[in-house]
Amino acid sequence: EKAGFDHFMMKEIHEQPKAYRDTMMGRIAEDGKSVQLTELGMTADYIKAIRKIQIVACGTAYHAGLVGKTVIESLARIPVETDVASEYRYRSPIITEDTLVIVVSQSGETADTLAALREAKRNGARVLAITNVVGSSVAREADDVLITSAGPEIAVASTKAYTTQLIAFYLFGLHLAQTLGTKDQAYVAEVLAAMKNLPEQVEQVLEQKTVLRQIADNLSKHNNLFFIGRGVDYAVSQEGSLKLKEISYIHSEAYAAGELKHGTLALIEDGIPVVALITQEELYEKTLSNIKEVKARGAFVFAVVNAGAEVEAAKSVDELFAIPKTLPLLAPAVAVIPLQLISYYASLARGNDVDKPRNLAKSVTVE
Ligand code: F6R
Repeated sequence: EKAGFDHFMMKEIHEQPKAYRDTMMGRIAEDGKSVQLTELGMTADYIKAIRKIQIVACGTAYHAGLVGKTVIESLARIPVETDVASEYRYRSPIITEDTLVIVVSQSGETADTLAALREAKRNGARVLAITNVVGSSVAREADDVLITSAGPEIAVASTKAYTTQLIAFYLFGLHLAQTLGTKDQAYVAEVLAAMKNLPEQVEQVLEQKTVLRQIADNLSKHNNLFFIGRGVDYAVSQEGSLKLKEISYIHSEAYAAGELKHGTLALIEDGIPVVALITQEELYEKTLSNIKEVKARGAFVFAVVNAGAEVEAAKSVDELFAIPKTLPLLAPAVAVIPLQLISYYASLARGNDVDKPRNLAKSVTVE
């Protein structure tokens, strides 16, 4: 049942190339120039009337939503708010009929997410669910459903569900953009072509997993570490930090790289590992200057960089891992893979039950 892997988590990490393909299948026009989300009941007039989008989810699904915000805002120029579902209802969110609420849930049964969906509907919003389970409560109650075709996810730590949620956001963002005309066809085609390369790029990362095992073995000797990044790299940092905490039980914190100097630098002392994500070329220099700040205080910096940037980055960091280069917006779908593998190996190095971490349930049906 684990298909030759020691744990479901590792099996599911390896299923990601297929999960990406399955989630894209049938949703891209044959000429590769447009997205076709025929399952959505939204008319073009409805889409043109959307004034605001709220993305609501828990845990890892929330982290996918953080990437989703950037994707939708940059492709469709519609303002997006993100909320953790357990907070959403209690902040009296401003929900109107021209608000689209997107709930994201692997299981489709998370109580907080379901309660948020109901609150949104009560207030007249249309709800789109991104979920992995056909026929789940969230799928049944939402107005529109985008299924992520990750297949069953057994390990408590979510991997392929998260990455296919990213794929769903890319597809939906492009769908909005082509309907609103915020991006031209050539651009949409360029993004789609790059998306089709993602499975192959993920394979290339998986082929290098032994390198990541060594890095994880070293990180697992520490009790505290930091993840830093800017833009979508910050969103991926938050997911990397959660993954590490939940299965290795190593405390870590994800920080927007530019925010470190507003207090957190006090915690950087000799030998503290800092995992830095630098996939966004535009922000490269800025993040590099934050890396210098932590290095000056004795941090050990492990960086995830784009292939091609290794030589330059090697001058400023202690260790690095290069990922195949894609468009900046798509980088999370590749950059998270080494972080998943590091969490897995760190959990293993600490002798933990990788698939069933303490105190956690796969589906949280209490609020
Ligand atoms: C993390 C993890 C949890 C879930 C969260 C939401 O690896 O598995 O944080 O992501 O409980 O679950 P779903 O997506 O089923 O609503």
